Amino acid sequence: MNILIPAICTALWSQVALAQVVGTSFGFASGTTGGGSAQPAAPSDIAELTTWLADSTPRVILIDKTFDFRGSLGTTTTQVCEDSVVGACPGGSSAGQYSIQSTCTTGTWVTKTYDNAGIQGLPVGSNKSIVGVGSSGVIMGRGLQLSGDVSNVIIQNILITDINPQFIWGGDALSLEGCDKVWIDHCKFSLIGRQMISTGYAAAGHVTISNNEFDGVTSWSASCNGEHYWTMLLYGLKDYYTLTGNYIHDCSGRGPHIGTTYDASVILFHSYNNLYENSAGHAFDVDATSYLLIEANSFSNWSQPMTPGSATNGGHVFDVAASSNTGTCSSYLGRSCIENDFVSSGAWQSLSDTAVLSTLASYKEYLPTPVPASAVSASVKSFAGTGKLTVAAAATAAATARACSG
Ligand SMILES: *[C@@H]1O[C@H](CO)[C@@H](O)[C@H](O)[C@H]1NC(C)=O
Ligand SMILES: *[C@@H]1O[C@H](CO)[C@@H](O)[C@H](O)[C@H]1NC(C)=O
Repeated sequence: MNILIPAICTALWSQVALAQVVGTSFGFASGTTGGGSAQPAAPSDIAELTTWLADSTPRVILIDKTFDFRGSLGTTTTQVCEDSVVGACPGGSSAGQYSIQSTCTTGTWVTKTYDNAGIQGLPVGSNKSIVGVGSSGVIMGRGLQLSGDVSNVIIQNILITDINPQFIWGGDALSLEGCDKVWIDHCKFSLIGRQMISTGYAAAGHVTISNNEFDGVTSWSASCNGEHYWTMLLYGLKDYYTLTGNYIHDCSGRGPHIGTTYDASVILFHSYNNLYENSAGHAFDVDATSYLLIEANSFSNWSQPMTPGSATNGGHVFDVAASSNTGTCSSYLGRSCIENDFVSSGAWQSLSDTAVLSTLASYKEYLPTPVPASAVSASVKSFAGTGKLTVAAAATAAATARACSG
């Protein structure tokens, strides 16, 4: 036993502390602390990562390399559906997605192989910070699943990618169903089979989705145009979402779809200062029982910023389309709301349902004041996604954490 090691470790822990969560949770997920002051440590392989994610110990888990889950649970070769929209795209191109499902009424069955890890998200326990180091943090081939009344989880600075991208139902990057207090910050999602973020019928609780990159560029597009359709599907039973600072690009649908008629969910939602860039599809698709304040977002070259049904599906939207309704916010929120901005984009729908403002008036402390939409493009492009939180000595810290923990 080398008695110097504990001393060295103690001396270096101050550096290790740098490779923890950067910043503080805000918006509806305010108060989320994840693993708090637990000693940061980097798992050595996917088995150790799997254990640390799922156990009931508060942890700061450093993701300092690529954890590749592809093949780790075997593969399945089966019949999948290729129909006129998915799989074979019009014109005979094979640039669509295949669908893993039990019926194939409008298409034809084809035999394909998918990766089992993709369709089984990694269970995550309570009180975890899962933090990428520099630009090295990658989880490949398997998403994260927060269910079973999990709470207090921070996921920061991680690229989640390559989850059965050919297959609808091939897996979600983040699945939240039965949880509370989740802060998803500075992550990047790309090449995902199904949803980049999905919340099921159980509550997702208080969730802040900030400064992430949703990269929809794909060779397997359900919309047959090189764009990922399944961006965010937010149902939830009684949910509160803050969506801000995200770079959502080349995504053709569900950015987000929010609300559902399937249950009596009530969803409060504040979207501000997101950059939507380059899409032949839609962004907001609003459904019943949701209350959305949408302000100071920037849309650039986006075909349909909001679906027509958003105005009629039973959702409630106040979307600050023009200076004429910015001032309406003052009497409810104590400040003006801020206009969204549209450059070379399709028509927005001017919706000004004040039920949104009267509902959100009780939650003012969770509604940060946006910057003007004109400032969004530059700041989001320089700040959103992974590798933007680079801290000095992060790599050293991860190595130290590994040495000191094992
Ligand atoms: C998470 O941390 C909180 C606060 O320390 C504690 O009350 C709770 O029991 C923890 N949850 C689990 C599952 O350990
Ligand atoms: C607009 O977005 C489409 C993708 O939907 C892309 O092909 C095109 O190059 C973009 N135009 C510009 C000017 O960036």
